Amino acid sequence: MVRSVFHRRPVVIANWKMYLGAAESVRAAHAIRRLTARLAGRDAEIVLCPCFPVLAEVRGALVGSRLQLGAQELHHEPSGPYTGDVSANQLRGLIRYVVVGHSERRRFHGETDEMVARKVQQALRAGFSPIICVGETTEEREEEKTIAKVRRQVEIVVRELSRLSLSRCLFAYEPVWAISAGPGMEGPQPDPAEAAHLMRLVRKVAADRIGSSAAERVRVLYGGSVTAKTVRPFVSEPGVDGVLVGGASTKPAEFAAIVREVVAACRS
Ligand code: PGA
Repeated sequence: MVRSVFHRRPVVIANWKMYLGAAESVRAAHAIRRLTARLAGRDAEIVLCPCFPVLAEVRGALVGSRLQLGAQELHHEPSGPYTGDVSANQLRGLIRYVVVGHSERRRFHGETDEMVARKVQQALRAGFSPIICVGETTEEREEEKTIAKVRRQVEIVVRELSRLSLSRCLFAYEPVWAISAGPGMEGPQPDPAEAAHLMRLVRKVAADRIGSSAAERVRVLYGGSVTAKTVRPFVSEPGVDGVLVGGASTKPAEFAAIVREVVAACRS
């Protein structure tokens, strides 16, 4: 199957949220490095996103490997009186990717679409690739507002971006109702075809801004309760470039199995 005009290497991202402690994070990084050594960088881009305090240590654990490091968040201002927050500048030299607009940030920290758009600008200015999360809540789904919601979330981000900037962005479609409550607590999942339809919408909104051939370069991922057992149908859909994994990514063997599934789906 021809997956797209341009070959986009699949991306598998581990979002460790607030699950792992310092020593556990470093141990998990070493284990994932070992378990994915033959696939990392060549068959899949693998990104680990630990919590801020252990970024430097996990970075050390990844030296000499082809695994990439990402942060889970950054502030929308370049600096200022924001106790407890972290700016793009403070992350310079440490990371290559950063998650922005995660539904847990939007929900528990009141982050708006405008703030997310500014975070994307900060990330791009610092040379990072932002992983921009979008998705509808249960209520929005029940009220049939999914398409309008996802379209608006993407539009607000892309409207200020040049073709070059947008091609460095990744989007993760994560239906909020599908995100797990923790490792081993996976929730319901959408029909993969339905999710792929939303992911095509994300690319279409990008295409409206930068043209369809440039938008082919934008990577669009799925996220929400993905495990090695459930991931295959999502990444087998055309135009889906990988997954953002929360709870299941904290278990190295499970995460490595997800990477293998994604690579196998992309090869077939
Ligand atoms: P989950 O989290 O895999 O635990 O559902 C995904 C995410 O929130 O990025």
